[in-house]
Amino acid sequence: MSRLAMAIDSERIRKDFPILSRTIRGKPLVYLDNAATTQKPNQVLESLRTYYQRHNANIHRGVHTLSTESTQMVDAARDKVAKFINAPKSETVIFTRNATEAINLVAYAWGRKFLTPRDEILLTEVEHHSNLVPWQILAQEKGARLRFVPVEADGSVSVETARRTITPKTKLFAFTAASNATGALSPVRELVDLAHENGALALIDGAQWVPHFKTDVQAWNADFLAFSSHKMLGPTGIGVLWGRESVLEEMNPFLGGGDMIQEVWLERSTYNVLPYKFEAGTPNIADVVAFGAAIDYLSALDFAELRRHELELTRRTIEILRNEGEITLYGPEDLEKRGGIVSFNVADIHAHDVGQIFDAEGVAVRVGHHCCQPLMRKFRVAGTARASFYVYNTLEEVEAFGRALKKVKEFFKVKSHA
Ligand SMILES: Cc1ncc(COP(=O)(O)O)c(C=O)c1O
Repeated sequence: MSRLAMAIDSERIRKDFPILSRTIRGKPLVYLDNAATTQKPNQVLESLRTYYQRHNANIHRGVHTLSTESTQMVDAARDKVAKFINAPKSETVIFTRNATEAINLVAYAWGRKFLTPRDEILLTEVEHHSNLVPWQILAQEKGARLRFVPVEADGSVSVETARRTITPKTKLFAFTAASNATGALSPVRELVDLAHENGALALIDGAQWVPHFKTDVQAWNADFLAFSSHKMLGPTGIGVLWGRESVLEEMNPFLGGGDMIQEVWLERSTYNVLPYKFEAGTPNIADVVAFGAAIDYLSALDFAELRRHELELTRRTIEILRNEGEITLYGPEDLEKRGGIVSFNVADIHAHDVGQIFDAEGVAVRVGHHCCQPLMRKFRVAGTARASFYVYNTLEEVEAFGRALKKVKEFFKVKSHA
């Protein structure tokens, strides 16, 4: 099948992803659920196999060769992640289970030490539950207050509205760089500056940003960044918290146990240096190493091309949806203000029904509230259907999406424009 001309060579890239040659109900798999999780290239799968076949050992505590190799492999993966987000030091990259755990780490280890009943935490109405519930738990425990930047009609976060919501009591402003529910991109640097002008720290939820855009924590002047390996071609079970060194240094540990200590007595302990202070117990070694392989894969791509590629897929998907009619689209009109995510509803059909017909056509889209129930409530919908793109998606797959959409409308007898 000839592929339509694209900035990214998806023909070549697709060969690296064995799962993409699967069929679903006799149809070629069209995987458009990348905001939920991405597929893994051979390089990542191979890295897992090689690690367990040749190097497997626990890290840090051993002097034997395998342990030394494993330790070096984890260190190398940390270096790669640090470089990928332009962290000033590898030690400021902390491995967690996922973005959710990274945010919880801050809520627990920073929040429990520094938050008082006089303080406020500022969030936005678009946050994923992962960047909402940890702060609810913390605020309830500390008697602190949560405030929310109201979302604009198109689902975006505006600096002006944030400026009207932040107060001198704000101690932390935690916001997403890119919304998983609408694709809206946030003006990250401006929001970080706003936090700092008000004496607050800025935590960025980069789960939907880091896989798709060049990330530079220093250019952002951020204090914390959280993201997940599995949304960027890496394995599940690995996330990252990057933190400003001075802030990480003054935080309490998160979990207690092996590796996070320096000296232990029966009654008390002293804690290890960064990053180990926040990495208690045996880490997910193999998946960290394979995450390093995913970073290698991504680092070989031109992110400006990746952006162009995703924009083109997004543009065509929106065009198809608009041409069909009877569609509600969510997210900014201006394509430059959104990532490769298209959230929509078809007439008044429940998103789950839409998702099932797409699946019957081999097209995987996500349906539901996307872990953003407050935003769905604001939009007055139970959920949406969502197509989300990555490096291996093609314009032909978007056409398959269009055909599946027609099936939905035929099945539910919804009128089309055409
Ligand atoms: C914007 C955003 N933040 C946080 C998360 C949580 O990621 P994880 O489930 O990998 O912890 C997600 C996952 O969908 C997300 O889209």
